[in-house]
Amino acid sequence: MDKKFYIAANWKMNASLSFINDYFSFLDSKAENSNEMIICPPDIYLQSLIKTAPSFIKTGAQNISSHDAGAYTGECSGEMLADNSVQYVIIGHSERRQYHQESNEDIKLKLLKAIDSNISPILCVGESREERESDQTFDVINKQIRSVLDNDILSKDIGLLIAYEPIWAIGTGLTATPEMANDVHSFIHSIVSEMISNSIPILYGGSMKESNAKDLLEMEHIHGGLIGGASLDASEFLNIYNIAEEIRNG
Ligand code: PGA
Repeated sequence: MDKKFYIAANWKMNASLSFINDYFSFLDSKAENSNEMIICPPDIYLQSLIKTAPSFIKTGAQNISSHDAGAYTGECSGEMLADNSVQYVIIGHSERRQYHQESNEDIKLKLLKAIDSNISPILCVGESREERESDQTFDVINKQIRSVLDNDILSKDIGLLIAYEPIWAIGTGLTATPEMANDVHSFIHSIVSEMISNSIPILYGGSMKESNAKDLLEMEHIHGGLIGGASLDASEFLNIYNIAEEIRNG
């Protein structure tokens, strides 16, 4: 199958130096690398990860400031991330939208800062349980995409990835069925293809794990996963990555 997969780990606020050593001593010799593996640790561990991880693994941050520099306590700028060789950044994760009140406008500013710093954005979108139950899923996704992306941004070669993460599936053990996820991915594709002809890879996130990865990744419009809980186990994360390898090469 000629579909490149992006298998990305979102460690959230988890990890330690010893966790990183154990993780990569396990992963080092075992992974193939025809697809992209991305790991997003807390900022404080970005350097340890870059030093310890095998070189084919790409590194991502979980957030970026919408400012360039100055009196913004606790923030980290795009320039600082780039200075540390960070290649990706998660933008608009639902936990940032919810706990840090990030709006679509804030998310657009952050996306523009990532582009300025040559860091590829992983733009997260997704509906809440109430929005799904009241048939608003497509409206919410449409607004989240159109208020952040436009023709101009999409025409730049920025390595953008979009992650569809239904909020009700994140960390809950509930997963969208492959068909449900594929429908939303297909909808996102249709919005993006109104703006540009190139297709943008769309990852699924929300309780992706070894047992459901194959069914999800085999769907036409799913190009990878943004994986939280299951990525904290090196063996399970590697198994998901290898499932993507098998689908691509098999
Ligand atoms: P989960 O998290 O895999 O634990 O559901 C995914 C995410 O929040 O990116």
